[in-house]
Amino acid sequence: MSTSPAPSLFTHFPIEDYRHHEAEIDAALRTMLHGGHYILGPEVDAFEREFAAFIGARHAIGVANGTDAIELILRALDIGPGDRVVVPSHTAVASASGISRAGAEPVFVDVDPLTCTMCPEALEALLASDFGQEVKAVLAVHIYGQPVAWSALKSVADKHGVLLLEDCAQAHGATFEGNKAGALGLAAAFSFYPTKNLGAIGDGGAITTSDDALAERIRVIRQYGWKERYISHCEGVNSRLDEMQAAILRVKLRTLPAQIRQRRAVAAAYARGLAGLPGVDAPVDQPGCTHAYHLYVIRCAARDALMKHLQEQGVPVALHYPAAIHQQPGYAHITARSPALPQTEMVVSRILTLPLHPYLSPEAVTAVCQAIHSFAQSQPR
Ligand SMILES: Cc1ncc(COP(=O)(O)O)c(C=O)c1O
Repeated sequence: MSTSPAPSLFTHFPIEDYRHHEAEIDAALRTMLHGGHYILGPEVDAFEREFAAFIGARHAIGVANGTDAIELILRALDIGPGDRVVVPSHTAVASASGISRAGAEPVFVDVDPLTCTMCPEALEALLASDFGQEVKAVLAVHIYGQPVAWSALKSVADKHGVLLLEDCAQAHGATFEGNKAGALGLAAAFSFYPTKNLGAIGDGGAITTSDDALAERIRVIRQYGWKERYISHCEGVNSRLDEMQAAILRVKLRTLPAQIRQRRAVAAAYARGLAGLPGVDAPVDQPGCTHAYHLYVIRCAARDALMKHLQEQGVPVALHYPAAIHQQPGYAHITARSPALPQTEMVVSRILTLPLHPYLSPEAVTAVCQAIHSFAQSQPR
């Protein structure tokens, strides 16, 4: 009889991360609260400078969340009604809803089954076809923290005269050929949802760009179209990162590089523990890239049975995501306007997210690997 791992092995990242930074966060909040400046004040200013430096971009603009970040980038680029933006269907629904919120239409493209990121050949085929008409931009998603095949996607985007943008909501700390995700394209969207590699204690987001004029336009749109108080120069929105979240994010940003190293160490321990196991494909580190391991997602043809087995063993597995966007009822109207997505549909049926965060113990990783081995042994050969 197998013994289930104790539930306490699997703690939750947001609360662990708060406990780890508790004294510093509490002190930073006290300073911020007594400072009396609660919206777009010194904490947001400082965080924007520090986050831009971390990414290697000239500007970071704090906004209310990652979905708004996508919308604001597109609005600032005058991409909206009548325009189309290519995005994978294998991503968080927010990638597509940010596009719709800007008034543009998402068009779905297939992924590479090995990396789960946008497939350059599928992008080329889409842009060369009728589906590619009116496409103004491509939103590449570094899903799970895995950097997209940037150079190949960029060649395709350049050939067709469309912009290549980044969705970095899951990729704080990932790199492609020495550059951070968020510094690769014209502009990038980040989320600071509490579970993200860099997580606030509430909602938050940012846009990074090294284009001065674009950064200025985004700053104006972020707050009612104001350049100066009470005078709108365009129809803007209210999407501000608040001072409290900025104060918290500044504390956490200092330990982010160490946390990415720790995420990668946990991933390496999983890779060792799962090596050679038939029927289970572990995520891969692409040459010249740093996978930031926001999520550790394995692929298995017998995914549903493996998931049931792990749940029975007390392992908190998850699906990111149980359905691709085009398979969800709310997006059925877009499916007809996108090409077939066979790799996406195959990937979606096989993925399984194992627990991973910087505080996960070696015992927890061992317990998960043992549970997966016991599943493999129970399978007919
Ligand atoms: C890939 C991706 N894009 C965009 C978002 C949107 O971020 P937010 O939840 O902060 O709006 C998320 C968050 O879940 C995400 O994972």
